[in-house]
Amino acid sequence: MTVKNEATTDLKSAKSQKTTEDFAKYFQPPSLKDAKKRGKEDVRVHYDFGIPEEMQGIGKGKHYLIRTYGCQMNEHDSETIAGILEQMGYSSTEDEMEADVVLFNTCAIRENAEDKVFGELGHMKRIKKNNPNLILGVCGCMSQEESVVNKILKSYPQVDLIFGTHNIHRLPVLLRDAMFSKEMVIEVWSKEGDIIENMPKVREGNIKAWVNIMYGCDKFCTYCIVPYTRGKERSRRPEDVIAEVRELARQGYKEIMLLGQNVNAYGKDFEDIKYGFGDLLDEIRKIDIPRVRFTTSHPRDFDDHLIEVLAKGGNLMEQIHLPVQSGSTEVLKKMARKYTREHYLELVRKIKAAIPHAALTTDIIVGFPGETEEQFQETLSLVEEVGYDFAYTFMYSPREGTPAAEMADSVPEEVKKDRLHRLMEVQNRISKEKNLALQNQIVEVLIEGESKTNPDVLAGRTRTGKLVHLSGDKSLIGTLVNVRITEAKTWTLWGEIVAKVEV
Ligand code: SAH
Ligand code: SF4
Ligand code: F3S
Repeated sequence: MTVKNEATTDLKSAKSQKTTEDFAKYFQPPSLKDAKKRGKEDVRVHYDFGIPEEMQGIGKGKHYLIRTYGCQMNEHDSETIAGILEQMGYSSTEDEMEADVVLFNTCAIRENAEDKVFGELGHMKRIKKNNPNLILGVCGCMSQEESVVNKILKSYPQVDLIFGTHNIHRLPVLLRDAMFSKEMVIEVWSKEGDIIENMPKVREGNIKAWVNIMYGCDKFCTYCIVPYTRGKERSRRPEDVIAEVRELARQGYKEIMLLGQNVNAYGKDFEDIKYGFGDLLDEIRKIDIPRVRFTTSHPRDFDDHLIEVLAKGGNLMEQIHLPVQSGSTEVLKKMARKYTREHYLELVRKIKAAIPHAALTTDIIVGFPGETEEQFQETLSLVEEVGYDFAYTFMYSPREGTPAAEMADSVPEEVKKDRLHRLMEVQNRISKEKNLALQNQIVEVLIEGESKTNPDVLAGRTRTGKLVHLSGDKSLIGTLVNVRITEAKTWTLWGEIVAKVEV
């Protein structure tokens, strides 16, 4: 079993070089074309991560700061990066002026996500001037893009280190190179690497924890950059996932969120066992952890067995994030989502029949190339028909290298904005109606902490994932309580505790 990283770039480029052409002589940038290839090689699983001897303790008395953009996958990667840095002796800081290492863990999903990062990188120039020994690094999905790496080389010389999503485990070595050389260190693998199992993690908080079940995505929706930045679908072995969940339960975590770009495809890459996401959930269901959630489900792979397992309830929460993207079959086809409006609605009907109290949430893109007003109306009518509890809504943003970026971006910005606005109006009304239906009902809430806006108020979530504010003693944080909903707003609920839940 071998895994080749043919497109590995492990090159340093001299900051003194002026043009991209010069860099190209000894710098092989990441390639979206290579990232698109899906090889047949097995993925090896490694259990032997360690900090090289010469880097042990190198961060003693020093501080790191990680700025994270993008999805939960990236948030969780930042926990791993923090784990590696802490194993090297670094401690965390929120103060840029105090930091010795600043890493930007970036997201490439839409143009505005990237613009934000470039803005912040610009601002780091001043900080770097104050502290020339500061190591400034860029990692995450943007690093996987050739155009981004070239732009950084050309216009952001304050950056010392660029690494990608597939080689996080190489951070100690890369950091060493960045420290001891005057040159920008760039290592981005266009092709996915192996699965590294035992990397350390510094988790945020001690109530909820993220657990990766798979990496990458093979769906290649035509608008989406993720299959290029995250590589092919690779599932973690069930025994490794289960061991991690058991350990989190033992440590007293109350909720886990299973992560994958397309969790329903879990296990499809196993050649030795027939084992899918439904099987995994059926085992995790038996572990003594109060709450289990997962994200994201692709409608195409959502099978009956999975619905059957979810219907067993228990610690499997009644919250299903099921991105639809569009209500028009024609648009879905152009997006290569591989389902029709009817198939999606039938799936929703089955889910609702099996899990009557399930809250459904979704992602929707407006203004996909060629989307007509009629096709947009189909999205609005689907939203009404399904009755989502919440929707994440986006204006289409062309991503270089994806097939949709080759299609004429025909919907004017103003029209995209108008459609987004109309969609949000419809969804907000539905969200409010759904919340109002909970008034006076008693729901189970996990108290997760203080409210972000008022430290005198507690905040928690229902089984369906809705935010509830309530008053109570701080000692209740981390416990399950039954709450009567007293007030329902569009995005939040208010309630009063009626009883503690025995677990
Ligand atoms: N794997 C998840 C989604 C990951 S990206 C899934 O398939 O559901 C999160 C959301 O960003 C997507 O669901 C989509 O709605 C949105 N998105 C992705 N690419 C986009 C683009 N180019 N422009 C606008 N929104 C996009
Ligand atoms: Fe992107 Fe589609 Fe994969 Fe989701 S399933 S990450 S939208 S390509
Ligand atoms: Fe963004 Fe990468 Fe996640 S592009 S949405 S951080 S997988």
